[in-house]
Amino acid sequence: MKKKLIIANWKMNGGVVANGKLLMAMLKFTNTLSHSELVVCPPHIYMHQVKEYIVGSGIKLGAQNVNENEVGAYTGEISVEMLGDFYCRYCLVGHSERRALFNESNTSIANKILRLVAGGLTPVLCIGENLAQRERGEVKDVITKQLAAIIDIVGLKCFKSVIIAYEPIWAIGTGKTASVKQAQEIHRVIRQYLCNLDKKMFKGLSILYGGSVNENNANELIKQIDIDGFLIGGASLKADSLKSIYLGEASVNAY
Ligand code: PGA
Repeated sequence: MKKKLIIANWKMNGGVVANGKLLMAMLKFTNTLSHSELVVCPPHIYMHQVKEYIVGSGIKLGAQNVNENEVGAYTGEISVEMLGDFYCRYCLVGHSERRALFNESNTSIANKILRLVAGGLTPVLCIGENLAQRERGEVKDVITKQLAAIIDIVGLKCFKSVIIAYEPIWAIGTGKTASVKQAQEIHRVIRQYLCNLDKKMFKGLSILYGGSVNENNANELIKQIDIDGFLIGGASLKADSLKSIYLGEASVNAY
């Protein structure tokens, strides 16, 4: 059985003391036998701290961003190889905040994916529509165009290594979650789109849901056939909320 993936995106939050407390709590409630896998994506500067805490546990390390170049004069940036030094396994790419606030283009997102896959890390590609696009009924079109733009550059073979996170932009950090029906519908669109391109290649595809996931909505969302886990921002900073999501339906059959 495929593990449900729960990715904690700390964004630009935390501090040495607060991280320590949160990580201690995580170590208590995680269980290597669980059918959920927990990945923590701290700000880069805390990667070493997180690595020290999680060593020997089932918790994995992820990054929130990476530079698309191999090495060189890119002040303030971090390379895939550097992430590898910290045993980082996953990296978010194309998060809507990075697309909107840092002008991240599809070309740059695609180049990051190519670099990550070559370096043995798993990219977690974030896609999602904004409110105006949803209200105009354009969601399926927007989502498939976002996928196609990346596949055109990286090719299907590379894209096979990607995990998708469907995050409706209007649901991120707003307290508004997509309804279970809305989320399942789009997850199905994504799965079908990729399976139509190559059914065999995308058999094991993981599609995470993100956008105001919390302890109250996680159980219903995770029961949906096409929802394979979560990308969690705000609730991942609260030990109790994260524990309840991790130990909820996501870990059914775990013990
Ligand atoms: P949120 O953030 O859970 O706070 O809505 C999710 C994300 O941006 O990945």
